[in-house]
Parts: sequence; structure tokens; C-alpha cells
Amino acid sequence: GVTSFNTKQDFLQCLTLYSKNDPTIFNEVYTPSNSSYPSILQSKLENPRFNTTDTPKPVFIVTPTNESHIQATVYCTQKHGLQIRIRSGGHDYEGLSSRALTPPPFVIIDLFNLKRVSVDVTEKTAWVQAGATLGQVYYAIGQKSKTLAFPAGGCPTVGSGGHFSGGGYGLLVRKYGIAADNIIDAHLIDVNGRLLDRASMGEDLFWAIRGGGGNTFGIVTAWKINLVPVPPVVTIFSVSRTKEQKGIELLHRWQYLGSKLHEDLMILIFWGKNNSNLGGNVNAVTASFNTLFLGGVDRLLSIMNEDFPELGVVKEDCQEMTWLEAQISFAAGFTANLSTDVLLSNVSIFNVNFKGKSDFVTHPQPLKVIEEIWKRMEENVEIVRFGMTPFGGKMSEISESNVPYPHRAGILYKIGYLAAWNNNTVETAQRHINWLRSIYSYVAPYVSKNPRRAYVNYRDLDLGTNDQGYTSYKKASIWGVKYFHNNFDRLVKIKTVVDPTNYFRNEQTIPPFSY
Ligand code: FDA
Repeated sequence: GVTSFNTKQDFLQCLTLYSKNDPTIFNEVYTPSNSSYPSILQSKLENPRFNTTDTPKPVFIVTPTNESHIQATVYCTQKHGLQIRIRSGGHDYEGLSSRALTPPPFVIIDLFNLKRVSVDVTEKTAWVQAGATLGQVYYAIGQKSKTLAFPAGGCPTVGSGGHFSGGGYGLLVRKYGIAADNIIDAHLIDVNGRLLDRASMGEDLFWAIRGGGGNTFGIVTAWKINLVPVPPVVTIFSVSRTKEQKGIELLHRWQYLGSKLHEDLMILIFWGKNNSNLGGNVNAVTASFNTLFLGGVDRLLSIMNEDFPELGVVKEDCQEMTWLEAQISFAAGFTANLSTDVLLSNVSIFNVNFKGKSDFVTHPQPLKVIEEIWKRMEENVEIVRFGMTPFGGKMSEISESNVPYPHRAGILYKIGYLAAWNNNTVETAQRHINWLRSIYSYVAPYVSKNPRRAYVNYRDLDLGTNDQGYTSYKKASIWGVKYFHNNFDRLVKIKTVVDPTNYFRNEQTIPPFSY
């Protein structure tokens, strides 16, 4: 390829010079000839679909232990014409933190060594390094307090670097909004290798990095987050319903009330089959109603009896615990084992080949649509998980332009579609991807329109891609307005100012105007 032996030598020499002969930087650089290279490459690559011999591989993986080594890498990759991919938790749906589809050759900057979480209980804040996983963040908060929490996603191996960059939501979204709404400062290395904080980067750039998507504006090394209050006792339940148990009717009904319930109550749906993480979900298609309530069981049951009696939840379904334990329970698929190990594990709970897509729903879908999708789930697909998160509550109060993540008032719920398979042959992969695409086109009349919205953290290259990493404003707007709606133009303007040469890019990042 383009990277000759000289370029590689020059790059390494550049790192030596730039780091003023700091020998530790070389313990952090892996080349394909290094015996640890394959394991380092795979360790954070969530979707095994992008871990094949055909997947383009990085010429180097740099695993910095401090900011100055990132600055050196930013400088030297530009000097030697290499592109970079930033990786925190590696959960990008399209694997874009681990692969580049077009030249020039690329270097992965993997932030897994930067994982410190410092919680300040008095100030109710924390500094979180970008390589910290959500599990590590929740664990650190839980060690210090039973009544503080952070509103972000449920999967413990997701990284804060990518997750907060694209928005980030989970069980507290109806009460406190998304992760990006609750970030109050950040450390970022820009295209010139400067280490900036909120004051020195300015409000425009600080706005853009809270939801404008990763790998676009710079390398976030740490976030300062606002912790939110939760009661010392919360209640959870997970009940699953088959077709015979009126699963279809209950899903239909849930659409009308999920976003209208008291904001202390979150009923998240996992609809699908063969996913151990669905809460009791087995071979048959089921709808599970997975609930976090910020309060005790008696108050929860009285709300359920009043607002959603059809679900038939009884006391025996419910468990009182701390918020941290609830987070563990959700992550562990609602098992009774509440060991914190699941939060600190590096092994993902969803380690299968998958294709994902997303939708936002503004009007309840007709019963016949739910029936049809249920029927299709019973077809020849191995693993299906449609995660449906209701909004309303705080999400309706936050303006669309608060941060780049725009999907707020008027959205009843979000759908995160996943189709997954175990044995990654070309035929199996294509069958599952086609199945999902066909569902996606079938539901088009019953989801948000003009534009049909999508969630940037559920990255989907079907929506369009940059050519050779460079693209026109016009082309990028096709997927850009789906992800960012009216915030897209402001993101392009900021990108044009802070990264005019488009150094921070991938197949679906926001281009500066000049391209
Ligand atoms: P990864 O490292 O792959 O980064 C994602 C993107 O951000 C890449 O483009 C990367 O280059 C860039 N990036 C990473 N670190 C950066 C940094 N420090 N600075 C700048 N750019 C950076 N979402 C959600 O909202 N709620 C949820 O509950 C879940 N659950 C979930 C479960 C599972 C199993 C998966 C696979 C995914 C989710 N997600 C989710 C989606 C998740 O939020 C999304 O994939 C995030 O971008 C992942 O962030 P990572 O750091 O893990 O990924």
C-alpha cells in the first residue's frame, strides 16, 4: 500500500522527536509485526463482523497513557499523511473506530489506558477519562454514594468517549435527559495538537462535541459530568409476554403511555428473540417490559395499576435495590446475581455479529404493523433485539438546540433495531442485513418523516457515506439532517472553523464547507 517502510520509520522517528525522546511512548505503539497487535486490535472491537481477514487494518495502534502522547500522534500522523481513528469503547455499530474503508493508511488511537474516574460527592460532579467504560463510571459513582447517578446507556462496556460524543441515553433519560445534556466541561486535543478545556475551546466547539458525533472535532480525553440525584431505594422489574400472553396488544398499548407516565418511571422494551439479554427472552418472540422506577415498590404498583393495569405486574415481579444494583441487573439480563464484576468486565454482553439501525416514532403504530413485524421476527433470523426507549418527561423540556442531539419534544419513543448472527458467513450476514433493511422500509410510513430521523450513536452507513473520507456539504446533509436535524448547519460551520482540512474524519463525519 501507500505506507512504505520509510513512512513507518519516519512516523516512529517523528514520535521520538516530538516526545523529546520519552522512551515510554514506544511501549504504547503496536505494529502488525508485534505479537500483541492482534489482541490489542480485537480487545475493543465490539462487532466481530468487522474482525475478518478482509477488514482493513491499522498500520499502527497507539495506546497513550497521557495526553502528550496523543498530541505527538496527532502531529506525526498529519506530518506523514496518515489518517486516524479514535477508539474508546469500540462499540461503533459500523466498526468505524477500528477500520477505515478508504486510503490513506490509518492509525488507531486507542484510549483504553485513559480510564480514571474521579468523583466529587460534595460538588456532585466527576471527571471521567474518555477510555472509561460506562460500567467503570457507574461503579466509581456507586462506591462514593448511593444517591448519585449519571444518565447514560445500559451496556457497561460502551465507552464514554464515543457514547457522550453522540448523545448517550439509558434508563434515566425521561428524568434527566441524555448524557450530553449533563456534561459541564471537557478536555479536547484539537487538530493543532492543543489541549483545550471548555474555556479555551469556546462555547461553539464545546456545544459541538456534546452530541455532534465522535471523530469529528478532536480527541476528547476527559469529560466533566454533573451527577444527578436518585433515591436510596429504586425498584425494577422485567416481565416478558409472548404472543399468547397478548404481547402484541401490550406493545400497541405501551406506545400510548410510555412517554406520558410519571418521569420517575421508565418502561423500556426489548422486543425480539434469542437474546439472553432480553430478560427471560428465549426462542419464541417476546416483548419484555424492563422497568426502572425511582422509588419504592408500593408507589410503583399503585402507578402501574392506575396507568398500565393490562401488563398485570405484581409485587413478586418487583425488586427493590440501589440505583447501582439496578444498573448491574439490567446489564446482567435481570439475573439475581448483583456482583459488580459485570460493570468492570471488559467482555461485552452482546458479542455477536450484528447490523443496527434506528428510528424515532411520533405517532403510535397501528396494531397490524406490530403484528406484521412480530410475524417477520419469527422468520429465519437468529437473534433479534429491537430496543424501544420512551421519551417524554425531561426530553420534551430540553430544546432541540441545547446540544447537537436533536430528537426531543414530539418523539414518543426511539427504536434501536438489531439483527444478529453467530456464524459470520457471507450468506448469513447478507440474509440478516436484508431482513433488517426490509423491516426498515416496511415501517417507513409509521415513523418520523421529513427527515426520517436517526441516532448518530446507532451509526448506519446505509444512510449514506463520505467519498474517500471527503464529501460535499450537500451529500453529507442527506444523513446529516437525519442525525442532527436543524443542528446540522451549525455543526458544519463549527467544523469549518476548527478543522478546515478535515483531519478528523471517517465515512460518516461532518465535512467542512470547502469540501
Ligand atoms: P467507539 O470507540 O467505537 O467510538 C464511537 C465513535 O466515536 C467512533 O467514531 C470513534 O472514532 C469516536 N470516538 C471514540 N472515542 C472518542 C474520543 N475520545 N474523542 C472523539 N471521538 C471519539 N447507545 C445509547 O445511547 N444507549 C445505550 O444503551 C446503548 N447501548 C449499546 C449497547 C451495545 C451492545 C452497543 C454495541 C452500542 C450501544 N449504544 C448505546 C451505542 C453507543 O452509544 C455508541 O456505539 C457509542 O458511539 C459507542 O462509544 P464507544 O466509545 O464505545 O465506541
